[in-house]
Amino acid sequence: MKISVSSKGPAEYTGDMIIFFVRQPEKGQPVCPVPGVAQAVAQASLAGDFLGREGQTLLFYPAAGTDKQLGARRAMVVGLGKDTVSRETLRKAGGTASCATMKTKATKLLAVLPEEIGLDIADVAESLGEGLILGAYRFRKHQHDADPDEAPGVITEITFFTSKGGEARQGLGRARVAAEAAWVARDMANEPANYWTPSNFAHFGRTLAKDDGLKCTVLGKADMIKHGLNGLLAVSQGSMVEPTMTVLEYRCGVKKAPTLLLVGKGLTFDSGGISLKPSLGMEEMKYDMCGGAAVMAVMQGVGREKPKGVNVVGIVPATENMPGSGAVKPGDVITMHNGKSVEVVNTDAEGRLILADALSYGVATFKPDAVVDIATLTGAVIVALGHHRTGLLANDDALAAKLLAAADEAGEPAWRLPMAPEYRKQLQSQVADLKNVDNKREAGTILGAAFLKEFVDNTPWVHLDIAGTAWNYTEKSYVPKGPSAVGVRTLLSLIRSY
Ligand code: BES
Ligand code: MN
Ligand code: ZN
Repeated sequence: MKISVSSKGPAEYTGDMIIFFVRQPEKGQPVCPVPGVAQAVAQASLAGDFLGREGQTLLFYPAAGTDKQLGARRAMVVGLGKDTVSRETLRKAGGTASCATMKTKATKLLAVLPEEIGLDIADVAESLGEGLILGAYRFRKHQHDADPDEAPGVITEITFFTSKGGEARQGLGRARVAAEAAWVARDMANEPANYWTPSNFAHFGRTLAKDDGLKCTVLGKADMIKHGLNGLLAVSQGSMVEPTMTVLEYRCGVKKAPTLLLVGKGLTFDSGGISLKPSLGMEEMKYDMCGGAAVMAVMQGVGREKPKGVNVVGIVPATENMPGSGAVKPGDVITMHNGKSVEVVNTDAEGRLILADALSYGVATFKPDAVVDIATLTGAVIVALGHHRTGLLANDDALAAKLLAAADEAGEPAWRLPMAPEYRKQLQSQVADLKNVDNKREAGTILGAAFLKEFVDNTPWVHLDIAGTAWNYTEKSYVPKGPSAVGVRTLLSLIRSY
């Protein structure tokens, strides 16, 4: 998609559609700056069809030749509502505009940035830009028989019009990095598990490193054996597909800059292993790599933006969890990277095994100042929070607060759950240092975090359980059905303000 900023207004625009955003007034008709639009708005408002309410759109076709104020054959007005306009209001309005555009044959559009709505123009450009780009995402790679008479539903070009070029450009630059990162994460997740395998993570990492000046190291099976990554190896041993662990490093070049470590679960298909999952809905377990996709995507954003005061390391342990004849069995005991032994009571609690090794390896190798992991870890988080909040658990209040704030800022809210020594007791094993599950169904999300906590030493750490939000996320105009890329913009927002 082509994205640009222009100081040429609606009269000179030669694309397919011009989009305006208007507030809903306390009473009367919405005010629209361009007279040619004001008339259509007045008519629609008199008819009661368009009041500028949030989510409302008015699509119209200016009379050709007679209306010199609009260069395109289509125009649309999108409502922003009566309430204070927030960044999220604008993201949603952007998404609404994209969705409505994709129902027409238009592919090139001009978005006229609204002014005087109580936010500075850089924020307006960023939020609206995010909404428009994120909302325009569709994944049709594996569909070949589209009806030629139907709207193509593709946006190929967005131009933003503002008279305040410089600041708007900065905001749009950020929007673009974040939204393109989210696109990439959604692409990875949408690919079926026979197309997106652990080696794809490695390949993506290497390409990223080359393009954006990061360092990439890929650990294969032999390296995993050498480093004692036995949790990752145990999970992978029931599958024909070789595991990978991709490590991406960004160095800001400033001495004494803090290092942030990100670890994402890259489980490219979770059948459950010998503790096999039921068939119904199992196809969704191709999404069990959304945490890994988020980390890769964030590293793409970091590589492009090159933040000044922070080093960022991203690690994605990747494997399938399959019940092949060599598979790890319930009751097996494995010794993890940090030397702790684990009784694998349930092979379907595999995410914590691969994350534990990656966390312990990352903490030992990079001595980070803070660690965040992101994973589709437990079905229990859906029971607790549904699809509207990511579960957040932490061993450090300050870092937890930073992430909660970043998540709110990004419109990807998280909710903190407690951790306490009582929960750790539920993981006491008769034969090993700990077991990977407690067979009761209590506090599943907290137990997952209690397990991971054993592998980060005392490093400040936050765990994001995105099992409820990585797909089937809260319905929003800028989050199409399928994977949401949740976490990508939260982590970028964290890094930008680090
Ligand atoms: N990948 C699943 C968690 C999951 C479930 C994500 C549903 C998204 C939707 C994870 O590996 C898993 O299977 N967890 C088990 C843990 C249990 C065995 C303690 C679960 O949640 O059932
Ligand atoms: Mn599982
Ligand atoms: Zn899983």
